[in-house]
Amino acid sequence: MSARKRLVVGNWKMHETSAQAVDLARAVLAALPPLDARSRTDVVLAPPFTALPAVGVLTAQSGVALGAQNMHWGESGAYTGEISAPMLLELGVRYVILGHSERRRYFHETDEEVNRKVRAALSHGLTPIIAVGETAEERDAGATDARVVAQTSAALDGVAPAEFARLALAYEPVWAIGTGRNCDPTEADRVMACIRATLPGLERTQLLYGGSVTPANFASYLAGENCDGGLIGGASLDAKAFAQLAALALDAA
Ligand code: PGA
Repeated sequence: MSARKRLVVGNWKMHETSAQAVDLARAVLAALPPLDARSRTDVVLAPPFTALPAVGVLTAQSGVALGAQNMHWGESGAYTGEISAPMLLELGVRYVILGHSERRRYFHETDEEVNRKVRAALSHGLTPIIAVGETAEERDAGATDARVVAQTSAALDGVAPAEFARLALAYEPVWAIGTGRNCDPTEADRVMACIRATLPGLERTQLLYGGSVTPANFASYLAGENCDGGLIGGASLDAKAFAQLAALALDAA
């Protein structure tokens, strides 16, 4: 058995108003298998910022943790439209997804910005879930391994190896996100081994696969030596499907 715990994260993206998020969170909590401090699987719900307070009320003491989908690296300041780590902490947030490919692509987030956010999250005691992955063009050009290694080392620049157990990395091939074209599990595990080998100490880091994960394909990722869980988009909006994913991770733990 791996020394690493499993981790299943529901990334709700820009879906669900606060009222809708309450309904979804209630349905998820009702469908989930029992989780307690002894469970070797952590489950995280990452709703939009506006739904964090209401969902946080439901997840408090449920065994499910609250996550945010992004944050700014500053404590406070003249950054219109941004949200800081202390603001998230006040709402009971414990995890934050950083460097998601949609942030990199549509909001032009750079590796350097992702790194600043990672360091800020760690210094506030938040657990960053750092997403890395190649585009279809990079894969076709044979640049997959170089891309994920570059993104991983840039995101972790200046982070002490002692911190590596306090963060998670998600391998999300960009071409597999929301497309139904999930990556072949053997290939995903190979790339995840490559991510793990980027820096000494990453053997203590939880590594997730993300990209069109469903209850039908998740077990084949979890069977991989390097996969400790999943970063789930579409299937996390379906309470039953998400609960099944958590149950698969618990079974595999
Ligand atoms: P998907 O999204 O599961 O809908 O492919 C995954 C993600 O973007 O994290």
